[in-house]
Amino acid sequence: MHSVYADPSWESYYRSRPRGRYPSEEAVRFFMARSPKDHAPRVLDIGAGAGALAWFMAKQGADVVALEGAPAALRQLADTLRFFGVEERVESVAGDIMRPSSHVSGSFDLLVDHYSLYANHETRLRASLREYLQLLAPGGSMLSCMFGVGCSGLETGVRIAPNTWQDVAAGAHAGMTPVSLWTEAEAIELYRSAGFAVLATENLVHRRGELTTEKLILHLGRG
Ligand SMILES: C[S@@+](CC[C@H](N)C(=O)[O-])C[C@H]1O[C@@H](n2cnc3c(N)ncnc32)[C@H](O)[C@@H]1O
Repeated sequence: MHSVYADPSWESYYRSRPRGRYPSEEAVRFFMARSPKDHAPRVLDIGAGAGALAWFMAKQGADVVALEGAPAALRQLADTLRFFGVEERVESVAGDIMRPSSHVSGSFDLLVDHYSLYANHETRLRASLREYLQLLAPGGSMLSCMFGVGCSGLETGVRIAPNTWQDVAAGAHAGMTPVSLWTEAEAIELYRSAGFAVLATENLVHRRGELTTEKLILHLGRG
């Protein structure tokens, strides 16, 4: 039995349902655009969940380290890797994505945060970015997919820090706690102040009925 590193709300989430197995457009675009052309990339999948990105990147030839802190997610990840036949190319690591250097070593061509870092208190998140910068190889790139303060439902939660809410009861973040959300300018400043260069940004707003989800997507390099 692995230790639980993610907030227990994630363990409950994965115990209650399977998470999707296919990567998002923003993840595929980042991987295809930013992978080195002359060698197979070494990739850190930050909060790999059920492995929707890990298997895809491994199929494309990457050596993937999948860091994840919810034991039930790690079980789904193992199933996904088996299903797509890429167990050999993905190393699964149980650990805290807020303290990556305690769990992984060496440097990575690509760091992939696909909606994972945001699910933590902003103080820990800020501190973790300095570790991620150290793990990024010269010339390497990081994807950070986060959420914007335009997401609906935040008003139902308790704001415990300028950018962190807990116990949100409605919208995309209902039941997941804590969550840190930003304006686009704040997200850029978050990474710049940690020493990253911002290579590209994208802001996507999805509206489904009453539900609004704002996604902030950043491509980052070493500053
Ligand atoms: C929204 S899910 C995204 C999962 C995956 N990246 C994907 O896109 O399918 C957030 C993931 O981050 C993990 N996570 C959040 N905070 C964590 C922490 N401090 N340590 C380890 N894992 C964490 C959760 O367990 C969950 O699997």
